[in-house]
Amino acid sequence: MEQRYRAALRGSASPAMGPDGLVFIGKEEDIKKSQRITAKIDGREIVVFYHEGKFHALDSRCYHEGGPLCNGEIEDIDGQACIVCPWHKFKITLETGEGLYEGINPLEPSPTPKWQSKGVKQRIHKLTIDNGNVYASPPDLSVNFDSDYYAEKYKKGGELAIGKPSNLESTE
Ligand code: FES
Repeated sequence: MEQRYRAALRGSASPAMGPDGLVFIGKEEDIKKSQRITAKIDGREIVVFYHEGKFHALDSRCYHEGGPLCNGEIEDIDGQACIVCPWHKFKITLETGEGLYEGINPLEPSPTPKWQSKGVKQRIHKLTIDNGNVYASPPDLSVNFDSDYYAEKYKKGGELAIGKPSNLESTE
């Protein structure tokens, strides 16, 4: 699977900076083909998924213990597309970054497990598509998310989990 991601990255040479301070992530067509890539914004590793006709960008390190979400599988959970962390199987919605868990209400007469939200745990990144290129907005660090801790930790960690960021491709 990693080969596929890297193949997409190779074909995405383009300017690193986009309009209005946006950060170039990759070519729209390349991401559609590979369905996921990692990139860096200000040293912060993010993962961009293309799933069922939509792009989604999240911090690539899981808010729980820093697992590489870029290597997880996408599952539909209660009608929401979620990335399942490959380390401990936490479920995170692609659309909002919410952590989901299955819980029961013991006060119900016959309690059955239901999916519930822990709130937004994973930072979501805003994407802009312009002229066939996909760009991410710099994160708003005035708001904190649990995934920030691991995003910071892995900034110093070097290598991306699934290959070189496409927005550094043109520096080769
Ligand atoms: S690190 Fe992701 S579930 Fe534990």
